[in-house]
Amino acid sequence: MKRIICSIAAAMLIAASAMADEGMWLLPLIQKLNAGAMKDLGCRLTPEQIYSVNHSSLKDAIVIFGGGCTGEMISDQGLLVTNHHCGYGTIQALSTDEHNYLEDGYWAMSREKEIPAPGLSVTYLVSMTDVTDAMTKAGDQNAARQALQKAAQDSNPNCRVQVTSFYNENYWYLIVYKVYTDVRFVGAPPASVGKFGGETDNWMWPRHTGDFSMFRVYAGADNEPAAYSPSNKPYVPAQSLKVSLKGVQQGDYSMIMGYPGSTQRFQTEAQLQSMLDRQAVSIDARTLRQDIMWKWMETDPSVRLKYASKYAGSANGWKKWQGERLAFKNLGIIEKERQKEADFMKWVGKNKKRQAKYGDALEKIKNGVEANTTALDMQLVGETVSTIELMGFSSAIQNAFARGLRDGQDSTAALEAAIAAQTKRYQDYYEPLDREEAAALLKYYQAKAKPEYALSVVENVDIDAYVKDLYDNSVFTSSEKLKAAVAENGFKVVRDDPVNQLMNSILLTYTKMGLVGGMGGGRRPAGGNAGSDDIREGSKAFTAGLLEWQKGKATYPDANFTMRLTYGSVLPYSPKDALMYNYYTTLKGVMEKEDPDNYEFKVPAKLKALYEAKDYGQYAMADGNLPVNFLTNNDITGGNSGSPVLNADGELIGLAFDGNWESMSSDVMFEPDLQRCICVDIRYVLFLMDKLGGAGYLLKEMNIVK
Ligand code: ARG
Repeated sequence: MKRIICSIAAAMLIAASAMADEGMWLLPLIQKLNAGAMKDLGCRLTPEQIYSVNHSSLKDAIVIFGGGCTGEMISDQGLLVTNHHCGYGTIQALSTDEHNYLEDGYWAMSREKEIPAPGLSVTYLVSMTDVTDAMTKAGDQNAARQALQKAAQDSNPNCRVQVTSFYNENYWYLIVYKVYTDVRFVGAPPASVGKFGGETDNWMWPRHTGDFSMFRVYAGADNEPAAYSPSNKPYVPAQSLKVSLKGVQQGDYSMIMGYPGSTQRFQTEAQLQSMLDRQAVSIDARTLRQDIMWKWMETDPSVRLKYASKYAGSANGWKKWQGERLAFKNLGIIEKERQKEADFMKWVGKNKKRQAKYGDALEKIKNGVEANTTALDMQLVGETVSTIELMGFSSAIQNAFARGLRDGQDSTAALEAAIAAQTKRYQDYYEPLDREEAAALLKYYQAKAKPEYALSVVENVDIDAYVKDLYDNSVFTSSEKLKAAVAENGFKVVRDDPVNQLMNSILLTYTKMGLVGGMGGGRRPAGGNAGSDDIREGSKAFTAGLLEWQKGKATYPDANFTMRLTYGSVLPYSPKDALMYNYYTTLKGVMEKEDPDNYEFKVPAKLKALYEAKDYGQYAMADGNLPVNFLTNNDITGGNSGSPVLNADGELIGLAFDGNWESMSSDVMFEPDLQRCICVDIRYVLFLMDKLGGAGYLLKEMNIVK
């Protein structure tokens, strides 16, 4: 009898996990937790082919692109593909008014024309080792972490090592990465394709965006990381992905590997409520800032190039949070969380031991959240007056100058270097825009802030007059003005600039709110840290409690920008009653959306010509249409952008690039019926590269399967 019950329980467990496509799974655990469900869904790879400790495996083809995206190797000569919106900042930085690669697109056409991208890195996962035992048994966790990292660093001198916590400090991994810094821009479609639909279509389906860009990783003669050199060679990765022209059908197995950045699936009602409140502050302030930015950008292509990346970053969060609020309401997320916590507490209450371990966890977190009484005030400063760009020049130069002196440079050299480091920032700076924003933000802040946090510099003064005076007299409004003034009077002009008064006024306000630290971030609470300690301890206990409560069920930790795998299927969805969305879009839809008078919906003439001629070559579907984007029910979040979408054989069928509007609460709760991952079809990527870009030569180094 007992045996039978056990095997039924086991069978139910398998059935349950095979059905659910939720989960950002840890690679070292898929063998144990997910292999059965993956196979049931159609996966033809073994866990060992996906992630192996001893041999090269699929994971060796997946990388961190830059600081916050995913990319993948698609040739044995270092060729990498990621999203257009991931390459965006780099492409913007490499562009000028004369050579505007963002606006016009670019294809290198030969290795020599691949453009070095200083500051860009590509990071490979070398290994992940469970160090939970060492970390939890240690009396001093900080010391244990240092010791583990030092030992790993000594045996991997060429690598970056880190001990990272999972499940809110209940589990730990030592992760070793190898970082390549000679990365070159190979090509991208014009923004009218790579960002087609702009902010209007962002976070939404149906979608028609060619969201991809290509780079190449270079290495020294030994294939190891090396600083940029013309003599470096294309990096030979341990694995690269096969590229499939076979296409996608509803119900096909799909799997995504990549670096989801952050989710809040173990957070409590108190934390979620506080998150929503802070987001509301940001949404409001960004509406003001973005309207001003866009006004200048829309009419002036040169300003548009300068502010493209800043604007896109701001607008992406701004729209995400609005969608998140809506989804919270529509899907009753807070109510669901409240119910979950009530059920949890009921389970805790049944047993003395549980009560001792988890009984006060939720209360502690709530207290911690409430202890942070100035959270919204700080959010307001952070999203408004702190963003005034003019101050950024002053604080960056002062900090760099001080660092230079500490490092033993003489003051002239230190100042010169500090100013030179601002070159890029000046390239992307447009004074009239910043001036207008400064006035608007100061007025907005003074009107919104609690009286005790008003900025003293602008109290009882006419803000327009103050801003005019400030921008007319500051040396930071252009690099020419700054350099001329410094040539004449040295560091004094930096130290005495009127913008510093504004900066100090803001810093003083932060101090009143209980924070110390400079303008450049890194501010921390002054004195006690009661709130955050409570949250840490409470979260650790709550998470451990949830794991014990759900014992026997496969679980996964919150996203923390470590490599994860999610598996599921290609699927349509119904956004609301009576409506059904198809799971893919085609070039026809691009033409339907075309609007020559709207910057976000322009279609390049050449793409139109290809459409009219139906010149799709080997990239067309069986019915003659050209696929553009498709949907899966994979579980992803920001950071996954650029991740490979793989078929049952691990071949590349697309790139993940977005989530859908109806399930924007997905970072908090997975909604199986609604949550979809928006992907760009690899056939569209290759079509754009080959037919639109004329860069078909790159196909030769790829391993294409038909
Ligand atoms: N929503 C996408 C993400 O967060 C970014 C899309 C970028 N495109 C845009 N129009 N801002 O990954």
